[in-house]
Amino acid sequence: MTVARDCAACGLCRGRLNVVCPDGDPDSPVAFVGEAPGQKEDETGKPFQGRSGKVLDKLLEEEGVPRSSIYITNTVKCRPPGNRVPTAEEMAACLPHLEGELQGRRLIVALGRTAARDLLRREVKLSEEVNRKTTVTIRGREIDMIVTYHPAASFYNAKAKDALRETIRFARTYLGARGSASSTGT
Ligand code: URA
Repeated sequence: MTVARDCAACGLCRGRLNVVCPDGDPDSPVAFVGEAPGQKEDETGKPFQGRSGKVLDKLLEEEGVPRSSIYITNTVKCRPPGNRVPTAEEMAACLPHLEGELQGRRLIVALGRTAARDLLRREVKLSEEVNRKTTVTIRGREIDMIVTYHPAASFYNAKAKDALRETIRFARTYLGARGSASSTGT
């Protein structure tokens, strides 16, 4: 399930500082999947450490969901140069790792269009599909899935932030007692 620190399955290995391994509870029923590591993630080896991570952490905290209660990963584990979108080939090379990480979860949250496209294997129009529950088959088993905006979309778009908050509230229902930190509400 873990990606080798010297993984060379695609060309992203040439520019990375670190393989960015998943974070959070390895046994969580809920997995959040982002697009790809950025600079901070590449430096630290952990997902969602930069500006997007701060937005995500704040929303999780406001909704009473400890970051440590969910599992957080990305479609690819190495930073694409200049933070470009990972190519289909790069995502395909990393898919066996991602599927291993997601196997057996109860809910997958796709953060943004790239993660949604990788998992659903089709183009996704976020404005039409956001927060609509669907399913995805991972290694022969259907898992609930929800598509939402990437935290970066909420930098300048309040509606995207509201939608992401709604997603977190929905995800909380899958967490049971794990997602029970006291909420500050909004
Ligand atoms: N954006 C992502 O999609 N993933 C990260 O880990 C950080 C920023």
